Amino acid sequence: MPYLQIVYASRPFGFDAGTLIDILFKARAKNARADVTGCLICRDDIYLQLLEGPAENVTRIYKKIREDDRHVEVTQLVRHGVPERMFGAWAMRDDPVQSWMWSREEIDAGAVNTATSDEVLAIFQRLAQEASEPAG
Ligand SMILES: Cc1cc2nc3c(=O)[nH]c(=O)nc-3n(C[C@H](O)[C@H](O)[C@H](O)COP(=O)(O)O)c2cc1C
Repeated sequence: MPYLQIVYASRPFGFDAGTLIDILFKARAKNARADVTGCLICRDDIYLQLLEGPAENVTRIYKKIREDDRHVEVTQLVRHGVPERMFGAWAMRDDPVQSWMWSREEIDAGAVNTATSDEVLAIFQRLAQEASEPAG
C-alpha cells in the first residue's frame, strides 16, 4: 500500500479561532512539503484528524502532533495502509461543526473509545464526498 493513513481524536486545550488559524496555517505549509494530505474536524470539544501520505512523513508529523500541548488525550483510532488518498486535494481540509457527527453528550459518554475504525473512516468518507460535490 503506497500510503499510510492515521486517524486520531483528541481534546482541544485552549481552543479559540486564533489557535486554530495558527495550527492550520503551519500544518498546510508543512504537509504540502511532506506530500501529506488530510482533514481536521475541529470543535471545541474534539479534534478528529485524518493524516495520509508516505508512511515516513505521516509518522514524523503525527509524532509532532502528539507532543503538541494545544490538545490532550491524543488517541489513535485508525492506522493502516491504503491504495489511494481520501483527501488528495487538501494539504489539510478543515471542517468546523458536524451536526451529524457525535454530539457533545456522545463524546462525553466515550464515543471516541467505542467507535470502530470503520465508523471513524465513514465520517471522513462522508466529508470527502460532500467536498467533491459541486456547491449549491
Ligand atoms: C489538532 C492539531 C492538528 C495539527 N495538525 C498538523 C498537521 O497536519 N501537520 C503539521 O505539520 N502540524 C500539525 N499540527 C502542529 C504540530 O503539532 C506542530 O506544531 C507543527 O508541526 C510545527 O512543528 P515545528 O514547530 O516543530 O515545526 C497540529 C497541531 C494540532 C494541535
